[in-house]
Amino acid sequence: MMACLPPGCVGAEVGVFKGVFSRRLYDIARPETLYLIDAWDRFPRSMYDDPTCDPDSQGDPVGWLNNTMHLMAPEIASGRVRIARSGSVPALATLRGQLDWVYIDANHRFGMVVADYEYASHALRGYGVLAGHDYIDCVGQGRGTMQGRMAIDAWLAANPLWERCAIVDTTYPHPPELPSVALIRRDAPADSVAGRFRAAVAERKPR
Ligand SMILES: C[S@@+](CC[C@H](N)C(=O)[O-])C[C@H]1O[C@@H](n2cnc3c(N)ncnc32)[C@H](O)[C@@H]1O
Repeated sequence: MMACLPPGCVGAEVGVFKGVFSRRLYDIARPETLYLIDAWDRFPRSMYDDPTCDPDSQGDPVGWLNNTMHLMAPEIASGRVRIARSGSVPALATLRGQLDWVYIDANHRFGMVVADYEYASHALRGYGVLAGHDYIDCVGQGRGTMQGRMAIDAWLAANPLWERCAIVDTTYPHPPELPSVALIRRDAPADSVAGRFRAAVAERKPR
């Protein structure tokens, strides 16, 4: 999916953790500018329960931020990567109308996912790509509360101009059973970012 994003765009990853995926996203998607948005803070477990990004087992969130800054140091120095230490919704509200694509991977609870997709859709300029990780629902199984699939489907039902363009495995560092999804507007022109993404996805489909 990352390789299908047109190069030279302005993109954002929402939910960064230690920046390992951000490095891959930057190298493969080759954006002009990439915003990395994360609160890098401790949340009460009643609000955010994701054992894979849990400060009790994964170290302090400030360490995650430092690791991200280390991995992206050259691009931060050149201004091509911008760090936004913030809640997802306020950060996306600040970026209204400025992005070509967004990759969402923050809090996986229903209401949080719906809010992230809603604000991210308004952060896009023109016809962009709204994508995210964990298009899956499960509770427990060592993964905490994941309600991404029902939340994204609910957002799509409320926004019928949009459609699912791709559901794909996400490559390393993610296991294959946690797919990513990409949404685009149905009326995206062929020469828009979403139209070029749609064509690239179609070309990569096994024949
Ligand atoms: C699943 S991890 C991100 C993983 C990362 N995308 C990767 O592929 O390695 C989720 C991250 O979202 C952040 N997060 C959770 N809720 C958030 C919110 N409401 N606003 C900003 N960041 C949030 C957490 O701090 C955590 O680092």
